[in-house]
Amino acid sequence: MKRRSFLGAGALALGSMTLGGDLLSPLARAAESITRLRAGSFKRQFQGIGGPTTLWGFNDSVPGPLLRFRKGDRVSIGVDNALRERTTVHWHGLRMPNAMDGVPFVTQPPIEPGASFLYQFELKDSGTYWYHPHQKSFEQVGRGLFGALIVDEEKPIEVNQDVTWVMSDFKLDAVTGEHAPFGSATEHAGQGRLGNIITINGEVAGPRLALAVRSGERVRLRLINAATARVFRLGFTGHAPMIIAFDGQGVTPHKPQDDSVLLGPGMRIDLVIDCAGAPESRFAVTDSTSRATLATINYSAAAPLQTTVWNAPMNLPRNDLPRLNLKKPDVHSIDFRGGDAGPPVIGRVDGKDIGYSEMLTKYGLAWTVNSYAAHEESRAHEPILFLKRGETHVLSIANSTGFVHPIHLHGHFFRVLSYNGIKPKFEEWRDTVFMNPWDELQIAFVAEERGDWMFHCHILEHAAAGMMGVFRIE
Ligand code: C2O
Ligand code: CU
Repeated sequence: MKRRSFLGAGALALGSMTLGGDLLSPLARAAESITRLRAGSFKRQFQGIGGPTTLWGFNDSVPGPLLRFRKGDRVSIGVDNALRERTTVHWHGLRMPNAMDGVPFVTQPPIEPGASFLYQFELKDSGTYWYHPHQKSFEQVGRGLFGALIVDEEKPIEVNQDVTWVMSDFKLDAVTGEHAPFGSATEHAGQGRLGNIITINGEVAGPRLALAVRSGERVRLRLINAATARVFRLGFTGHAPMIIAFDGQGVTPHKPQDDSVLLGPGMRIDLVIDCAGAPESRFAVTDSTSRATLATINYSAAAPLQTTVWNAPMNLPRNDLPRLNLKKPDVHSIDFRGGDAGPPVIGRVDGKDIGYSEMLTKYGLAWTVNSYAAHEESRAHEPILFLKRGETHVLSIANSTGFVHPIHLHGHFFRVLSYNGIKPKFEEWRDTVFMNPWDELQIAFVAEERGDWMFHCHILEHAAAGMMGVFRIE
């Protein structure tokens, strides 16, 4: 077990671990060299669990290495598959040519065991992103295959610490440490797989996990929800975080609604936290979904810093996203149905309309998109929408289910036009949007690159059970 000591500068008590920026070391900076990611398995002992857990991870770590580049870099990332099954890597949120998007059978053949694939693309946008397999993702991500990818702005905003938290959970047998079996119908047709341990940067969350700060500092905290199904609602006791980005895209800095930072699976939020606590004080970072303290903000004994950085702007430079033409958009409707708590659905599976119980027992499918239920591994996804390239498209999306769903579109950022008819207060560009039960929303985007792009729920068990489709841009 390779683990560094995480006690960074400013760490306080012995026995606590810091969640500072040095926890994840930048693997790659050079634009021309090839970064290698090896998907493989290894064992790790989680604190509070009886035995070691077999994790799947990139380069023997969970999360995988933090990939850090600059806007405009051309990157080459070679993925080596040391698993005993096929895999791929999808670069969540990044705009790139379709062939690099990492969806098996849709954009590339899966990477066979022992084989490699070279991903090459240009980083058009700065921001906080992540990477994960798109092959059997509910299981491969659920076993630990995920990592952060950060693209620095040409001129980053001024902060004292730039910290990334990759948040996840694992459903383990508390005695043996092994994963509970994957693929249960209750998980796939219900809330998804919820773990019994929550992790931040691979460490078991709890009051002993510390974000070490000094009084007077400004921290940029990048939150990434890499869990397959868990929704986080974070509270920062004693602090007033400002949201500066959703899914890597700058937004007018503002306080989170109800002081709670909502992060569905797949979503990212960048916060600016001005640390006004006294030296040696401690504050809890709580999650109201799990009703747990996930970490603490620990102040060092050092005298308060001059707080000049607090006056620095926190508004991020915007990425150059294609401009919407909302005068004459193409409008499309999307309707999500299904799940084990809603009205029974009929789904079109392999060209046949079948009832919910047959969907579930015969195919493991529980959800539909516009009445289609897709297998995750169907070789050819029939597109549910054909979109004209260069045009602005508006999607009217209805969540006709009793469940929450974070909805993700590949390769594009969309603007949220309305949540249940109400325009968001600040212009929001996202690649993943959270839907509460029975919500209706409208999003708009310009179809940019030719090809087949996935559109799916990022509760990965839902995606595997039918809640995914393909948009063909031509
Ligand atoms: Cu983050 Cu289709 O995935
Ligand atoms: Cu869902």
